[in-house]
Amino acid sequence: MPTTDHLTVTDNEATRVIAFNRPDKKNALTQDMYRATTDAINGAQDNAAIRCLVLTGGKGVFTAGNDLEDFLKGGTASADKPRPSAALGFLHALARNTKPLVAAVDGIAIGVGTTMLFQCDYVVASSGARFSTPFIHLGLVPEGASSLLMPRAIGHQRAFATLVMGRSLNAEEGREAGFVNTVVPAGEADTEALKVAREISALPAEAVAISRKLLKPSPEELIERINHESALFGERMRSEEAVNAFKAFFARKKA
Ligand code: COA
Repeated sequence: MPTTDHLTVTDNEATRVIAFNRPDKKNALTQDMYRATTDAINGAQDNAAIRCLVLTGGKGVFTAGNDLEDFLKGGTASADKPRPSAALGFLHALARNTKPLVAAVDGIAIGVGTTMLFQCDYVVASSGARFSTPFIHLGLVPEGASSLLMPRAIGHQRAFATLVMGRSLNAEEGREAGFVNTVVPAGEADTEALKVAREISALPAEAVAISRKLLKPSPEELIERINHESALFGERMRSEEAVNAFKAFFARKKA
């Protein structure tokens, strides 16, 4: 299993807790973090002792999304030789995952930080959570099957405002929209998520797996959409609009 200091994986009774751990960069996801997360998810699939997965960013932040430095490198790479993306492997792992997946969001969830929540089965958000998918501002398009799952979950108009207009939502708005189950006080998302995971783990595992599968689009349908989005995303990453937006983010830091 590839390891990185920026991800911790802990099996807590029947729950595997997968925690992003790069707080100095707001848990922005690197290739190594995607790879390690993918392995933590895939490694749980045939492990009967693991009944539930929890994705968390720990206290104060979920994730600021994909590392923009990687986007910049990808956007300026030769079109003939696009960089292999570990993000795609992660998104496929989410689509194929058969274990109930609970998210604990305490703080910002940007880009894939929000879109991955639509692959989750239960979302706990703290009052400090903020969800945004600023793809449009970066000259990009939605990913992670969000173009399929978000309109399904929250309706076309809300998905348009979020995915296409780049408007953000707070925890309560996320709950009203329907993709957040519970809002808890700041700092308490992990505790609540573990409680929920224990509740799920105590249910009959086979019946949970079959019922969960009935509720979701098939992995094949999800993967087809992920691949379609990904091809468009790759093209957009190399667009002038996108490369300028990535550069502007890092230039802002130097100002
Ligand atoms: N990729 C790479 N580095 C990131 C990052 C990202 N997605 N998000 C934050 N960081 C880094 C910053 O560059 C900064 O690093 P530095 O201290 O070495 O300069 C550090 O994390 C802290 O971020 P900072 O911007 O100083 O904190 P803030 O509280 O002012 O703002 C955010 C936090 C998350 C709102 C802001 O960093 C941001 O907008 N990030 C980009 C989010 C994004 O567009 N993600 C891609 C979505 S598709």
